[in-house]
Amino acid sequence: MLTILLITALFGQGQSWDSLGIKFITAFPENIAFYYPVNPVNSLNITALYADTVVTVSTSDGWKYKDTLPAGKPVTVTLPLDIEEYRFTQTHRTVRISSTDHIVVQSISQRGDSVQTNVVQPVKNLGTFYSIPSLNYSKMINTFYQLTRNFSKIYSTFRLVIINGENVNNYVTIVKMAENKVHTLDPYSVLQLQTDGTEIAVKSNYIVAVMMTHPCVEMAECRCNMVVNQLYPNSQWDRRFVVPSILKTSNVWLHLTSSTNITASGGDLESGTLEASSSKLLSLPSLQSGSQFINTSDPASLRLVSPGFIIEPIPQSRFSACYLVVPVNSTDAKALVIAETDYRDSVHIDGDLLSSAKWSTIANSEYSSVLVSLNGSHVIWHPSTKIAVYVFEKGTNVYGGPAISLSAKPDPLGCALVPSKFNIIFKPQTWPESHQNCILVSDELFSPSNKAAQMEMVDILNSEGLNERLWIGLRRSLLTLEWYRQRGKNAYNMTYTQWGTGEPSVAEKGMCASVFPNSNMDFHWKSVPCCAQLKSICYTRALYFPLYFPISNDISNEKGSNSNSNAGKNEDV
Ligand SMILES: *[C@@H]1O[C@H](CO)[C@@H](O)[C@H](O)[C@H]1NC(C)=O
Ligand SMILES: *[C@@H]1O[C@H](CO)[C@@H](O)[C@H](O)[C@H]1NC(C)=O
Ligand SMILES: *[C@@H]1O[C@H](CO)[C@@H](O)[C@H](O)[C@H]1NC(C)=O
Ligand SMILES: *[C@@H]1O[C@H](CO)[C@@H](O)[C@H](O)[C@H]1NC(C)=O
Ligand SMILES: *[C@@H]1O[C@H](CO)[C@@H](O)[C@H](O)[C@H]1NC(C)=O
Ligand SMILES: *[C@@H]1O[C@H](CO)[C@@H](O)[C@H](O)[C@H]1NC(C)=O
Ligand SMILES: *[C@@H]1O[C@H](CO)[C@@H](O)[C@H](O)[C@H]1NC(C)=O
Ligand SMILES: *[C@@H]1O[C@H](CO)[C@@H](O)[C@H](O)[C@H]1NC(C)=O
Repeated sequence: MLTILLITALFGQGQSWDSLGIKFITAFPENIAFYYPVNPVNSLNITALYADTVVTVSTSDGWKYKDTLPAGKPVTVTLPLDIEEYRFTQTHRTVRISSTDHIVVQSISQRGDSVQTNVVQPVKNLGTFYSIPSLNYSKMINTFYQLTRNFSKIYSTFRLVIINGENVNNYVTIVKMAENKVHTLDPYSVLQLQTDGTEIAVKSNYIVAVMMTHPCVEMAECRCNMVVNQLYPNSQWDRRFVVPSILKTSNVWLHLTSSTNITASGGDLESGTLEASSSKLLSLPSLQSGSQFINTSDPASLRLVSPGFIIEPIPQSRFSACYLVVPVNSTDAKALVIAETDYRDSVHIDGDLLSSAKWSTIANSEYSSVLVSLNGSHVIWHPSTKIAVYVFEKGTNVYGGPAISLSAKPDPLGCALVPSKFNIIFKPQTWPESHQNCILVSDELFSPSNKAAQMEMVDILNSEGLNERLWIGLRRSLLTLEWYRQRGKNAYNMTYTQWGTGEPSVAEKGMCASVFPNSNMDFHWKSVPCCAQLKSICYTRALYFPLYFPISNDISNEKGSNSNSNAGKNEDV
């Protein structure tokens, strides 16, 4: 509790952001030109967070996928061939995903060796106002290759894909330099437009998803690679970013989107004011030596632009506690992890600490970064602070981007999907009755295993203003008279105690333990005969995303006792 408050304060806005949802909508823009002699493969990778989640994927022409998914196991859904949208018009070629409980969704578009992935945002993360990045394609390509090329009209600019997120007619205004253009989008339809470089913003009556895309950003050797960038609404912009150093760091440029004249600083960026809607690509050679901290004078969004990719760095306000990484091709996938330098040694991958000596600190920031090889799907998380995680893969080209955010709030034991909960039982009962009752109404009679857990309990007791003893889940062995913690059906040795003076008393005076809910008594524990009638404190454990390791029941896995992490903030509480 305390920890969460501290962390919220640390991050100022205290906003919580993740990619979980029960309703999603997306579209699949053309991957490479339609005449490329290999069929496209468009798919979704869906991961349910809870067991027995029924997931439905449907298209407007009646194609449907429906299945019951287990928790924590990514499942691939391959979409029909004709889902790919190449026309510049309004159509119903959208894909809708709905589920009975929280899921996360990644889309993968493949055609030959052109691959792009995108974390599909749930409708709760969509908005009604988006600034359009002023990316001038011909200027961009000429910056990459330092020569002047002519392009056929159709490939000379980016495309804008606008998806109506609601089951209503949606009036969408494209704000342009010269004049605005209004389109009426049918329920759940998609509109694809060729931009002319003068688009400034998209405004709508109801929520829309907006993507910038290009089927054929030129790379070396006359190759093409599709780029896709799902935009975030302006309401999610920020001023502080850690720009990741990507596998291929030469020839990477930074593009800044803002609606005001703005300055940016960090790394070896040239100083100076950038005009609103500038198409200037900023040079950031220091990215070759490592990730860079960039801050801007006003809220903005950043893009890393290079032949074959556009990647949007995660702003600090969207850092999360826990990420799912699902590489397309695990043979050469890497995760880039950014964490606060003071707490970087507590980053976990699945059930283990991420042991790496290769952290490098990021200049002018409190952050460090490290690159980790991936051999499949994993969960990367931090027990006490927010981090940023990217997945990068290198086939013929580099692709990837931000990993899937599962949970914004740090928890000492993993990705907490539902936080833990106390439940005070006011009906006086004996210790054995209280113990049984807690198993029935929650998980267990609460037994603090460390200072942080004791403080969490104290918070609750303070707020209840109680003035009499309550049972906690500690008792004495009849055989050895040793005290132990009874958690539901399992017993554990005690490693932390908070006995009052002269406590625990001799065995004859009490084989069970209680807490006195009074700050004057420092919430000390006292031994009491087990058949006394007391109120009790039941506890429901947090619900965690299944990490990719067998969850053991031993003490090292208990609330707060996280024995293998010693740098987390929780231990300080
Ligand atoms: C591009 O097209 C213009 C007009 O068609 C032509 O004059 C120019 O030479 C072309 N440039 C290149 C590099 O091909
Ligand atoms: C894009 O850049 C090209 C070449 O630098 C320039 O001629 C053109 O006017 C620019 N387009 C827009 C819309 O600014
Ligand atoms: C941005 O700067 C340009 C000139 O550099 C100026 O004409 C314009 O008025 C400025 N816009 C705002 C919103 O300050
Ligand atoms: C970035 O932060 C530094 C340190 O807080 C500050 O001096 C600088 O002015 C900021 N840069 C911008 C563009 O706001
Ligand atoms: C998606 O999930 C499947 C099934 O677990 C996994 O094997 C695959 O690698 C993932 N595919 C992609 C393209 O991410
Ligand atoms: C995965 O990557 C390896 C090495 O880069 C490559 O040989 C293989 O063809 C790739 N597999 C797929 C399915 O793209
Ligand atoms: C993947 O790597 C983890 C450690 O990073 C290891 O524990 C696991 O066994 C590896 N899995 C495979 C399939 O190689
Ligand atoms: C628990 O304590 C008992 C008695 O002190 C000891 O024999 C036993 O090994 C301990 N168990 C663990 C898991 O530490």
